[in-house]
Parts: sequence; C-alpha cells; structure tokens
Amino acid sequence: AKAQSLSNMANYIVDLDQENVGSLKQQIAKLFEESLRLTVPDELDVEPAIAPCQNPRFGDYQCNNAMGLWSKVKGKGTQFRGPQSIGQAIMKNLPSSEIIDSCSIAGPGFVNVVLSKQWIAKSIQRMLVNGIETWAPKLPIERAVVDFSSPNIAKEMHVGHLRSTIIGDTLARMLEYSNVNVLRRNHVGDWGTQFGMLIEYLFEMFPNGEVNDQAIGDLEAFYKASKQRFDSDPAFKERAQKAVVSLQGGEERYRTAWARICEISRRGYERVYERLGVELEEKGESFYNPYIPGALELLSQQGLIEESEGARVIFIEGKNIPLIVVKRDGGYNYASTDLAALWYRLNEEKVEWIIYVTDVGQREHFEMVFTAAKRAGWLPAEDNKYPKASHVGFGLVLGEDGKRFRTRSTETVKLVDLLDEAKSRCKTALIERGKAEQWTAEELDETAEAVGYGAVKYADLKNNRTTNYTFNFDQMLSDKGNTAVYLLYAHARICSIIRKSGKDIEELKKVGTLELAHPDERVLGLHLLQFAEIVEEACTNLFPNVLCEYLYNLSEDFTGFYTNCQVVGSSEEISRLLLCEATAVVMRKCFHLLGITPPPPS
Ligand code: ARG
Repeated sequence: AKAQSLSNMANYIVDLDQENVGSLKQQIAKLFEESLRLTVPDELDVEPAIAPCQNPRFGDYQCNNAMGLWSKVKGKGTQFRGPQSIGQAIMKNLPSSEIIDSCSIAGPGFVNVVLSKQWIAKSIQRMLVNGIETWAPKLPIERAVVDFSSPNIAKEMHVGHLRSTIIGDTLARMLEYSNVNVLRRNHVGDWGTQFGMLIEYLFEMFPNGEVNDQAIGDLEAFYKASKQRFDSDPAFKERAQKAVVSLQGGEERYRTAWARICEISRRGYERVYERLGVELEEKGESFYNPYIPGALELLSQQGLIEESEGARVIFIEGKNIPLIVVKRDGGYNYASTDLAALWYRLNEEKVEWIIYVTDVGQREHFEMVFTAAKRAGWLPAEDNKYPKASHVGFGLVLGEDGKRFRTRSTETVKLVDLLDEAKSRCKTALIERGKAEQWTAEELDETAEAVGYGAVKYADLKNNRTTNYTFNFDQMLSDKGNTAVYLLYAHARICSIIRKSGKDIEELKKVGTLELAHPDERVLGLHLLQFAEIVEEACTNLFPNVLCEYLYNLSEDFTGFYTNCQVVGSSEEISRLLLCEATAVVMRKCFHLLGITPPPPS
C-alpha cells in the first residue's frame, strides 16, 4: 500500500464553523464526491460508496467505487487500465482537507483513508462546547408520521403493544434528534363492531345513564362480560348489532356511551405512557371515518376497486386474497381506515415518510395497502423515493418455555404488571445494597423506575426487532453483559471519575485541549465521532438495535482506554478528562434516544 500525503493538493477546507456538518461518513463522502466528479464523466453520476474499513490496519474509512466504475467504463475507450488505476485517480483527485491524514490503495482499487487524529480531537472538543445537537445526522425529509403503540379500546395493552411503544418511541426520538418534525400517532382501535356489544352492555349495567367509572374501570373484564352476554343471549346480540348501526348513524346516546368507553380506556394507556416517558397523540381509527368515502372514491376512479363476492376489493398482484375495502354488509374495515389514514397523512399532513410499528403478522396487510397506494399514484413506485411508507415489523416476546409470553394463569401478560415487577426487583436489589439507609424513599423509587423501565426497554431494543426474543428478568436486570443496568453503571462510573478529579469540567471544555496520543484514546475518539452515522443508519433502516450495539461497543472502548490510560494524576489528565466527558455525553444521548433515563448520580 502506498501512502500519500495530501497537504499539497488542491485546497478544499470543510467548513467546520458551520452549526452542523453532518455525520463523519457524510463528511468523508463529500470529499470523495468532489474527487469522483473530477475523476469520471458526469453522465455516470456516481454516489460515493463509503464504509468503515473492515481491518483497522488499512485505515479508518474506505471508498469502494473503483470496481463498480471499472465495469461501467471498461471497453468504452476509457483512459483507465483497470480498477486499480481508477482507485489511483480517485485518490489523486481527493481534495486536501484537515480531515484526512493519509490515503492508500488496497486490493482492486479500494481507497483507504486514515483520519487525522488532530481533527478527530478537534471535532470532539467542538461538540463538547457546542452541544451534541451539532452532531445530529441530516436526513432528506422534514416531516414524518410514526404510527405506533396503537392498542385497541377495551382490551388491555399487552406485551406486543409494549414492543410497538418502545420501538416506535425510539425511532421517533432518533428522527426528532435528526431535526425531523415527527407526528407521533397513536392509531388506537376505537371503532368497529365490538362497540355494539360494549355499549349495549353499558346500557344494561347503568340503565339510568349514570356510568360509574369504578364499575367499568377494569375494561378488560367489562369486555369479557359483554362478549359473554353477546354469545349467550340472542336478544342481546340483536340489540348489540342494532347498536352498531345507531353508533355509526351518529345517534347521540350511542356516541356518548362510545366516547365514555374510549375515555376510560385512554386513561389506562396514559398511565402506561407516563411511566414509560412516551409521548403520543391519539388519532384513532374513528378519526379517519370521514375520509374513507373520499379515499375509496379516488381509488375507484383509478379503476382499482372491483366487486368480488358481494364485497368491494382491490386485487394485488402476487397475493392470493384481495384487500377488502368495503365488507359485504357495506361496512368499512381496518384496511379502508388505513387507506384513508394514508391519504390524510400524505395530503393533509404533508408528511414525506410514514412509519408503522406493529408485529410482523401485519406485514401482508401493509404490503397490500402500500401497493394499492403506489398503483393509485399516492406513493412513488420506487422504494427509495419519498414520500415513502414503511412497515416496521417485530417478532414475538417469548417466555422461558419458548412459547408466547404468558403468566401462570395462561392469560396474556399485562403491561403494567411487567413494569411493576421490573421496578420492584430493582428496588429490592438497591435495598440489598444498603441504599435504603442512604437515600430517601423518593430517591429509591426514582432510581428503581429509571433502571427497571430502562432495563425492559433495552432488553427489547437490543435485539434485531424482526426476531422473537425471550423475556427474562434475571438476564435484563443483570449488571453484567449487554444490559441497561451494566451500561448505566458504566456511565455512572465515568461521571464519578470526572467528579472525583475535583476539576471543573465546564471550564476545562473551554480552556483545555483534547489530544488523542495513546492508540486506545484514538480508538475511543473515532468511535465517538461515529455516533451520528450510527443514528442515521438506525433510523433510516429502522433498526434500533444498531444504536444499542454502538452503545455497548462504546462502553467497551471506554474500558479499553481506562484500563490502559491513567486519567486522574497523569500528565494528560485534562485531555483525558475531556475524553471521559465526551464519552459520558454521547452515552447520555444514546440513553435518551433509547428512552432510558439515567438515574440521578448517587
Ligand atoms: N390496533 C392495531 C393492533 O393492535 C394496530 C394499528 C397499527 N396502525 C395502523 N395504522 N394500522 O393490532
């Protein structure tokens, strides 16, 4: 490999005084974009293919365009002799910049770059002064909908809704950090035929109209009881079916009863969201009712809707069953609502990206809805263009027995019970460590919640969402391995190193200088600088586990640094304290993006 100094090349200084310069990868890509523009004819219109080097011996990042370009220009009268010579040209045309220290060519034209240590250090220090917001990735969109959580009225939230809530919240947080205006939508199942029996049962229980909150406080029991009435009493069933018609017709008494049931349900969800620190705006299925006829009319005008066995349907190529949009009885369904919601979000809310977070079981449904929208011209046919709709599917939560997670009574597990248990286990652990004597009851509760809920979230998010995972309290609450508890400890330890140094870190940020003299410092520094591109990858590909992996590796890199580099009392103390602080800042931002609150320092 031939190394080359870039100091005497065309002068091209990346403007670092800008508020936000994009991720490290974007900055490197920008340099290569310039080089590619000089290297190959315009009509090839190539995007720089930049990736971190697999083997750090070769460098930090790599430009992988040469091979692909060679296959395009080969035999077409090009001056190049092969991918190697294209690589040479790309390297030669690379503008000089303070980012890159040296370049080399490896294999069939890979251009490897070694980043400048001084520049890495400077970028970190700049972040410390200007804040982590200046490291936000830049996304090509301004507004997005994240449709998540979305439980169904009168049915308790269960573990599946926990996954949707946790995954949706973290995606929303990452997009928000990337300066996207996120509409956090709770697409609550608040409409449908089940309301007939619920309302009828409500009338039966409270004939004089005085609905007692307490009595229907347990909505799930209420739902079951009404279902039982529905199944066992034909007269009740008939009244329930009429009630659906009255509700849909907008009859006052039925509307009020419906609103009451929704309200009670809502209060239950809100308690859960508050505990989890999740913000959502409810626009339930019923919200889109007025838009269904118009949306279906548009699809109809496009010739997409056909008559089939008395229903109105959309046939989708490659699917055995069509998408039913008007049922045989003339009523609308889940799909008609989703089509109307999609239309509304694109045209009324003018969002460029709509993200739906549900279990993988609904993949087919969303594929059909998206295909219909593409055929209608609501969405572009290409998946890499905006506006775009994406389904974020997730797997099941399993119990220790490998079956769907349930409690002993074989009921599905209630979300609140899980959160209660996570908290109480943490509290017990804290008491065992003597914290009850040192802390107030409030502090104890606060910490147990922060750690307990954080552990539940992290145990979910660290898995590739498409796979099933096993729910295990012992594992997720362990202080060893890839757990929130371990990571929170690691963060707390860094904070205490800084605290115990007795130095004013805010002052050091301004007057101190960060240097990355030791190899382990450089490794840690580079990892810190990769934060933005990791967030970008996690939220553009919709895989939060990428961020968890980053966070875990960051704490490992920190351990490597701390083991080999003395901080307090060394001649590099100031620089190393700054590196500690930068690690803590990035870790806190990771926690924040994952919806985890670090407990107050103790
Ligand atoms: N309420 C549905 C369920 O619990 C999820 C709704 C998802 N969002 C949507 N726009 N379909 O399965």
